[in-house]
Amino acid sequence: MPRQMILATTLDELRTARRLLEGTVGFVPTMGYLHEGHLSLVRRARAECDRVVASIFVNPTQFGPHEDLARYPRDLQRDLSLLESEEVDLVWTPTEEEMYPPGYATWIEVEGLTRRLEGAARPGHFRGVATIVTKLFNAVQPHKAYFGQKDAQQALVIRCMTRDLNFPIEIVVCPTVREPDGLAMSSRNVYLNPQERQAATVLFRALQAAQAAYQQGERNAEVLRTLMAEVIASEPLAQMQYVSVADYDTLEELQTISGKALLSMAVFIGNTRLIDNIVVG
Ligand code: PAJ
Repeated sequence: MPRQMILATTLDELRTARRLLEGTVGFVPTMGYLHEGHLSLVRRARAECDRVVASIFVNPTQFGPHEDLARYPRDLQRDLSLLESEEVDLVWTPTEEEMYPPGYATWIEVEGLTRRLEGAARPGHFRGVATIVTKLFNAVQPHKAYFGQKDAQQALVIRCMTRDLNFPIEIVVCPTVREPDGLAMSSRNVYLNPQERQAATVLFRALQAAQAAYQQGERNAEVLRTLMAEVIASEPLAQMQYVSVADYDTLEELQTISGKALLSMAVFIGNTRLIDNIVVG
């Protein structure tokens, strides 16, 4: 008999259902509109843990005032049936009212790491992410939590926060899942029209060009940044926001690559902001 997937909305429902889960619990937090990237995290959790909990919550506090919160794609029924096919045990879909009731006043700020890259481009973003992930962790109390390398800086911020706040949770980071042409899967890819969808391959093309140069011995970070910027500039529909070659642990911009480095970028394709990254070294 296949197990029934439990759906919880309120915190009370979540806690009651969580108490009944025996063994190790793996947790996959998401904002929904699920794709193969999300499902790869669920499968990894399924393989490593006795029970799998997923959450779907479009967290308003991690969006800037001019960002895409209002039009962020949603399809709860489809998400639930995908999670059910992956044999998820418990899905939590909290409401905004319960997560941020009137008078809500407590925030988690991770310093240092969050000042760079996405944190610089999206002020307040990681404060919202760290706060909601803390709230989700506290409610779900998983043994392991699964995040995607697609959001490399997010994964580093969550690792740092988990360690600093002594959450007894192992953070597992899973590889970026890509479309056949290299575009990193993202819920936001649905915003792209056919021409933009074609142009969006420029992010991975730029990363691959830099990786090829690295493999041929190039260690000058500025040369790699310039190379990525040139590939992006060659695509008329693309507008670069930043390109970075940074130390993988501190995210400080490098002059010379000696150890592990994160090559990352944010690029507007039309009005859609996309990010991607690879790790070298
Ligand atoms: P969301 O963008 O829905 O992503 C949920 C998880 O899926 C994140 O860990 C993300 O890195 C991972 N993911 C997304 N695309 C991926 C891909 N192509 N390959 C592998 N993993 C991928 O990230 C968030 O939601 C939110 O910030 C959240 C952590 C849920 C807090 O609100």
